[in-house]
Amino acid sequence: MDLVRMMALLLLVGTAAAQPTVPKDTLPERFWEAGWPFGLGEPPAGWSESLGVDRIALGRALFFDPVLSIDRSVACASCHRPDAGFASHEALPLGAAGKRALRHPPSLYNRALGTLHSWDGKARSLREQVVLPISNPNEMGLALEDGIGRLQADIGYVRRFTSAYGGGPNEERLADALALFVSRLTLGDSPVDRFQAARDRAALTQEERKGLWIYESKGRCWSCHSGPNFTDEAFHNSGIGVVDNQPEDGRMAVTGDVADRGGFRTPTLRGLLQSAPYMHDGSLKTLEEVVAFYRRGGNDNPFRDPRLTPLDLTDEDATSLIAFLKALSRRAQD
Ligand code: HEC
Ligand code: HEC
Repeated sequence: MDLVRMMALLLLVGTAAAQPTVPKDTLPERFWEAGWPFGLGEPPAGWSESLGVDRIALGRALFFDPVLSIDRSVACASCHRPDAGFASHEALPLGAAGKRALRHPPSLYNRALGTLHSWDGKARSLREQVVLPISNPNEMGLALEDGIGRLQADIGYVRRFTSAYGGGPNEERLADALALFVSRLTLGDSPVDRFQAARDRAALTQEERKGLWIYESKGRCWSCHSGPNFTDEAFHNSGIGVVDNQPEDGRMAVTGDVADRGGFRTPTLRGLLQSAPYMHDGSLKTLEEVVAFYRRGGNDNPFRDPRLTPLDLTDEDATSLIAFLKALSRRAQD
């Protein structure tokens, strides 16, 4: 076999291997019974009351079922994997029909606390958000009405929708079930929460405590990653994705306001140990890379948030900050 043919074969094998996969549902059977986690503040209005177990279970089944993608190869869980903090270990994961997502999937933890969803905030509620990937040509590629049609033709789903909602599959019920399931994906009760909210000093090591102090002081992380979910849910240009001094549209695509150019929503800092790589393009692979990025003040461009300027951190400070971020991913020990 000549070299060219061998290369072609290798390429083919390479493409064949790059198939999307649907991960197993590894959540505990009645995972929602754990309730609202410690450290996240008050649950959002209606969260506790909206507990309809059969609706959550229906949303869960749909989340792990590739039936809603055009070639039945991709489920929500393919890009929001339970072992990746409901994000993806790939920067831009495969969608249906060989396409790739144009952005990195964010972690779905604690979206119940979100006000606007997607990196640019295009969706104004979880219900609005959860159906977008179905018809997105880079994600699931199936017209929403065709997706509903498939569910209506499936006797198992017709039964489950009818017992949960008193009627068969339609867009409103599909969005409700998926949103309800996603809203139950919570992460809290880390040693940081025990340290802060329960005043348990022993919950954090000395290095982690120093990292927390850096996060709050000269690291300035707190000015955007604020509140119990470590995000202000607002949009900032940090220079991620800037090419030749030109940021992507980001938030501007939604508001039309030039001041929002290259603005992306601040993500939570919870669960980072599970959810690498980071940022809306998945371009930073480790927490070391993230902290190095902030130490140099983000990436320069004319729209960069004025809060991002080079930081005065020693290498030891950086190591402590990373130890603190890792502690935010751990479960507190009882
Ligand atoms: C091919 C990969 C892919 C698939 C499949 C996929 N998503 Fe996503 N998801 C993404 C990406 C990428 C984003 C960010 C979108 C953006 O910013 O424009 C996202 C964003 C979200 C968000 C908003 C999170 C946030 O922080 O604002 C939710 C909720 C969500 N997806 C739920 C779902 C559900 C439910 C399904 C199945 C119906 C699904 N996703 C299928 C890639 C995917
Ligand atoms: C000016 C507001 C701002 C400040 C200050 C800030 N961040 Fe961010 N952070 C963001 C935004 C916005 C993003 C998403 C950027 C993007 O993808 O375009 C982000 C992303 C991240 C991510 C990636 C999370 C993920 O799931 O992809 C980490 C980790 C992070 N920041 C940590 C920090 C740390 C540590 C500090 C302090 C040294 C800090 N941030 C300071 C706004 C900020």
